[in-house]
Amino acid sequence: MSAASEIESRLQNLGTQFREAFSAATTELQLRADYAKLLGKKGDLTAVLALLRDVAAEERPRIGALVNAFRADVETTFANELKRLAEQALQAELSGLPFDLSLPGRLSFGRGHRHPVLSVRDELLGIFRELGFASVDGPEVELEENNFTKLAFPPDHPATDMQDSFWFNNKVLLRTHTSNVQVREMMKLATRVAAGEPPRLAVVSAGAVYRRDDDVTHSPMFHQMEGFLIDTAVSMAELRGVLSAFAERLYGPGTPTRFRPSYFPFVEPGAEVDVGCVFCSVEQGTRSSCRVCKATGWLEVGGCGMVHPDVFRHTGLDPEKVTGFAFGMGIDRLAMLRYGIPNIKLLFDNDPRFLSQF
Ligand code: DAH
Repeated sequence: MSAASEIESRLQNLGTQFREAFSAATTELQLRADYAKLLGKKGDLTAVLALLRDVAAEERPRIGALVNAFRADVETTFANELKRLAEQALQAELSGLPFDLSLPGRLSFGRGHRHPVLSVRDELLGIFRELGFASVDGPEVELEENNFTKLAFPPDHPATDMQDSFWFNNKVLLRTHTSNVQVREMMKLATRVAAGEPPRLAVVSAGAVYRRDDDVTHSPMFHQMEGFLIDTAVSMAELRGVLSAFAERLYGPGTPTRFRPSYFPFVEPGAEVDVGCVFCSVEQGTRSSCRVCKATGWLEVGGCGMVHPDVFRHTGLDPEKVTGFAFGMGIDRLAMLRYGIPNIKLLFDNDPRFLSQF
């Protein structure tokens, strides 16, 4: 048989073969594999083309045209079959059972929950919200002015050493307490008062604060909650009342509170607030062994006092016309007490084995 007729007959066979294979393909992957088997580098057509050099010169144009027509035929058939498969897939999807969106996902990511510090924060804010305090936010990067100066910390006063700070430059630092919010809110109040509104405000604010402290009960980043109330005739009695109501809501009816005189530059008089230790009871005679309150029967929760006239002056309010009280407490310590956590670092290591216990 001449090379030309050999090619002709092989093309004919290949023609029947590929048509059958292409129309039998049920997936795109299979169709593409059949296509490669025919037109690929080591494909069946390449083997046939190897015979071309033995074709007589006068036969070449005819055989060449035949090969080209074959190739074009393969391409069109391939394209049509691809379209057929896509349509089939679409039909199958449309006529199949609807996709059930309520099915559970295949990957499971265990359910998360609030961080213990945030749970306690929200509980505290919730109690004060019930007592009529609105909650506001304040910045963690603060001007020295709002963190210290306007709060009547004298320049280079040792109290600023107590709150050894992280500075960005000689004017900007990470706030060392949430008391910066007092300054910001009182300045806004002063604007409203100037516009004729009454000098009235009851606000709480919670968030992260920063100091260069580091041991089992101190972390360089920790959390505080600040509260303050401004009006025309506020006295220390209201402060006592609000903080006792708070303690009873937090630790149960009958929980006692006591004030111990103390110094903070932005209040006068100032006090430290203790709450009766909830871990021991004098009646049951267990106080002497209580390690939480070190057998004193009291837990220190924060500081408080009557807003200092200088703070009013620095924020644009008239100390002859307005009065107010303020308090601040640590949130992490309350969380540690609540959950019996011995080391503050555990709260911020973010180890899931620890956090999943709450
Ligand atoms: N800012 C004080 C501190 O971080 C706590 C504090 C004391 C806040 C007395 C107050 C206050 O509002 O009246 O140590």
